[in-house]
Amino acid sequence: MKPVRAIILGYGIRGRAYAAYAKTHPDEFEIAGLADPVAEFPADATYPTWKSWEAALDAGVEADAVVISLPDRLHHKSCLKALEKGYHVLLEKPIGCTWQECVDIAEAQKRTKRLVLTGYVLRYAPFYKKLREVIASGAIGELTSVHHLAAISYGKAAHAYCRGNWSVEEKGTGMLVNKCTHDFDLIEWWTKGKRCKKITSFGSLMHWRPENKPAGATDRCKDCPESVREKCPFDAYKIYYDRTDLRYHFADESDEAILNMIEKSPYGRCVYACGNDSVDHQTVLMEYDGGLTIILEMESYSQQRTRITHFYGTRGEIIADEHKIEILPFLGDSTTIIPQQHGHHGGGDREIMTEFVKLVRTASPERYSAVLDAALESHRIAFLAEESSSISWMNHKECGRKGKKTMEAYAVLETGGKQVLVKVGDKIEIEKLSVEAGQDAELTTVLAVSDGTTLKVGKPYVEGAKVVLSVAGVVKDDKVYNFKAKRRKGSRRLVGHRQQLTVATVKAIA
Ligand SMILES: NC(=O)c1ccc[n+]([C@@H]2O[C@H](COP(=O)([O-])OP(=O)(O)OC[C@H]3O[C@@H](n4cnc5c(N)ncnc54)[C@H](O)[C@@H]3O)[C@@H](O)[C@H]2O)c1
Repeated sequence: MKPVRAIILGYGIRGRAYAAYAKTHPDEFEIAGLADPVAEFPADATYPTWKSWEAALDAGVEADAVVISLPDRLHHKSCLKALEKGYHVLLEKPIGCTWQECVDIAEAQKRTKRLVLTGYVLRYAPFYKKLREVIASGAIGELTSVHHLAAISYGKAAHAYCRGNWSVEEKGTGMLVNKCTHDFDLIEWWTKGKRCKKITSFGSLMHWRPENKPAGATDRCKDCPESVREKCPFDAYKIYYDRTDLRYHFADESDEAILNMIEKSPYGRCVYACGNDSVDHQTVLMEYDGGLTIILEMESYSQQRTRITHFYGTRGEIIADEHKIEILPFLGDSTTIIPQQHGHHGGGDREIMTEFVKLVRTASPERYSAVLDAALESHRIAFLAEESSSISWMNHKECGRKGKKTMEAYAVLETGGKQVLVKVGDKIEIEKLSVEAGQDAELTTVLAVSDGTTLKVGKPYVEGAKVVLSVAGVVKDDKVYNFKAKRRKGSRRLVGHRQQLTVATVKAIA
């Protein structure tokens, strides 16, 4: 059988990883061309090369497929064009930077009846295949909850999500869509057949912010005083020069090139001066059919770069940590499985190519649609998680915005010596105000106010903020009793009090 011929768009880290398959499996995969504006192409290339993905797709080269390993923001346009040209596509995740972009690609896939396989390499890795097999075998009964930690490690997180390509959400997608689509994909796969019904998420950029910059630190590590650098774990020299595990991100890994890169490139910037807004930690809570609950936690400040998952079932537990799978049944002996792993992403980079070639060669248009639909499901959950503070399940069309946390406006009001959290429309009872029923009351004792995205906290009150109440009347609270007894005087007194409360509706928060 002839090898599958593919044009690779974007010859960076991922593009090179996919291209390597052509060397190790020449009967399966052949490079039909490479496109990249800056990358150095292999000196022995016998195929055409271009400076842009558009030029590559316009060249009319004979090929079966296109591998899209371009920056996130170029996935949508390039995938649509590749499909319209009749190519099958191996598309790096995320499928699109917004849900609408994903929907566009799904529609184009159905129209053109081509394959779009998403770069979810982990589900092809032997470790995760084995884990899925153990869960599906029923070894721990029915799953009741899953706690999944995606620990990025402080070095990798500083590299990619603070200094690097994914530091500013507007340039691509939110952290959950970019980084955690792998995790959402695994969760979808582990819970196959069940559907996520509810989702909510919390997270923020807590630490890599300008206000946390140490005294005396400068905007680039090369200018930073030694006394400040030595106390900083994120110092570029420690991350790229003293250690070597992140050097694979650069075309030239020599000491000299790394020092030059720290001096001149964005990767030599102080982590507190990168203009980044990507969250550094986020938690997602999900409820699936039948009551299964799942917690996904993304954490930047971990020592190790790993994923640790704890599965609880009606007949036991499984603990998996990317190295070993511990099965702890309630009846019978515990076992530990250590799957064989070799290659990048635990062998997933190689195995996904094997699957891609197989699908291009043998699958039907119905199968192609099913493959993309499965990947869309996890994207949909990731977009919803980005968007949600607490929302129920929504369908394709309803999930439209990306990356913005859209909460309702609220204020924390101080009144009658108490703090009350209020939102517009809330009906509240507060200590009596001297305002007649039917009148409005404007309270300026606002301790904090949020418009849904930005929180302002006062010292103690937020200047210029107010909460407008529409007063309905006055009621009496439940009776409170005060009993006083004086032992030697034989006096016993029981006093009752009903506090008068103003009943009001929150009309506006400004
Ligand atoms: N599946 C995974 O596990 C995984 C891991 C990392 C990254 N990714 C995804 O893979 C994609 C690529 O990431 P990467 O780490 O290889 O990034 P990268 O920056 O190393 O590679 C991207 C390449 O695209 C090239 N490029 C930019 N504009 C171009 C254009 N107009 N035409 C042709 N080429 C162009 C760049 O020069 C660069 O070489 C991203 O979407 C990323 O989110 C997936």
